[in-house]
Parts: sequence; C-alpha cells; structure tokens
Amino acid sequence: MKIAPSILAADFAALGEDIARVEAAGADQLHVDVMDGHFVPNLSIGPPVIEAIKKRTALPLDVHLMIEEPGRYIETYVRAGADLLTIHVETCTHLQRTLVQIREAGARPGVALNPSTSPNVLEYVLDDLALILVMSVNPGFGGQAFIPTAYAKLHHVRTLIANRAILASVDGGVGLANAAALARAGADVLVAGSAIFGAKDPGEAVRALRSASEVAK
Ligand code: DX5
Ligand code: ZN
Repeated sequence: MKIAPSILAADFAALGEDIARVEAAGADQLHVDVMDGHFVPNLSIGPPVIEAIKKRTALPLDVHLMIEEPGRYIETYVRAGADLLTIHVETCTHLQRTLVQIREAGARPGVALNPSTSPNVLEYVLDDLALILVMSVNPGFGGQAFIPTAYAKLHHVRTLIANRAILASVDGGVGLANAAALARAGADVLVAGSAIFGAKDPGEAVRALRSASEVAK
C-alpha cells in the first residue's frame, strides 16, 4: 500500500516542515491538490508552490488537477515538478490526447473520477494510464465525509485494470476507520489529508494508516 499525504491539510505557512515529517515517516508520494475556483468551488495552490516543494523533497509529486481545460497547463505542471499528473475526466473532452500529452511532457498520467462518474469512461484509454483516482468525496475541500460507493467503484476499477500496471488510488475522507476496507476493495494508494496533517503527529499517522491497510491483506 502506498500512502500519499495530501498537503491541502498541512500548514501552508510551515509546509517544508510538515512535508519533512511525513517523508521521514516513510510516505510514498506527496499528493498536491490544485483547484481553480471553476471546476471546484475553491482555490488552492499552483505552479510556483509546486516548484518550491519539489526543491524540498525527494518524494514523487502526485499532482491532482481540479481545473477546467487541463490540456492548457500540462507542460506548466510537469515543468513545475509533477511526477504523476492527474486530470479529471469531467473536465476533458479529448481525454486520450491529454493523457498522451502528459506522458510526452515527462510525467505519468492519471485520471480522477468524481463520485458520480463511472469508470467505464476509461475503457478505451487504459493503455495510456498510470493511475486511476477514485474520488470518495466531491472534490474541492478537505475534511469531508467519505462516500461509501467508493468501495464498489474500486472493485470495478480493479476489474478494468486487470493485469495492467495502473495504480488504483482513493481520495477523500480516508483514514484509520476505512483504510483496511479500502485495501480489501483494491486500493493501491491511500490519499489522506486531514487524517494525517490533522493528527497531532503526522508521521505517526502515516505509519498507522499503513499498518491498518496492511493488516487487511
Ligand atoms: C479534495 C482533495 C483531497 C483532500 C482530501 O478535493 O482532492 O486530496 O485533500 O482531504 P481529506 O483526506 O481531509 O478528505
Ligand atoms: Zn486530491
């Protein structure tokens, strides 16, 4: 199981220290939420902050774009430091083209699915994908309640993935209470914001999430 702390819940005025804590605790990748105030009703951070983070950590950056017209910004985010770059299928008319664009720019392409979106939309782009992000909340905010239909969706995603090297990731309301069930449903990556940075000791929270998810297997 890979643990991806979502920095949306970190202290933005002490980001370097928060990142160092989860990195020292063995986090596998850093989840970075980019919001544009259009696709989602919130704003977060953009390329300059990602560039600054990239200089401070050796962790792969798992950048989750919650923005309209992501195709216009692929180069920018890869240049800023995205290793994995995930776009929302709901924002992307020419999905296959955008996924190829991500790969050609030098990052691994991911697609995120809102809670109401079926994984079937990915059937014909599976060979262009490195990650499928199952949203277990409606994107835009940290700290929301987990939507349990994500379990069935993860099973569905696993069936679609079959034996391909695609990661199944889950994002939103993930914590100790559901980590084991998410592992059983087929998640390879747990993205967690408030469960990690909202904890007194974020490093300990990373270790606890990992052991909760591994007990399940
Ligand atoms: C929500 C973001 C999440 C968010 C998760 O739109 O995509 O990555 O940080 O936060 P928690 O883990 O607090 O639900
Ligand atoms: Zn996210």
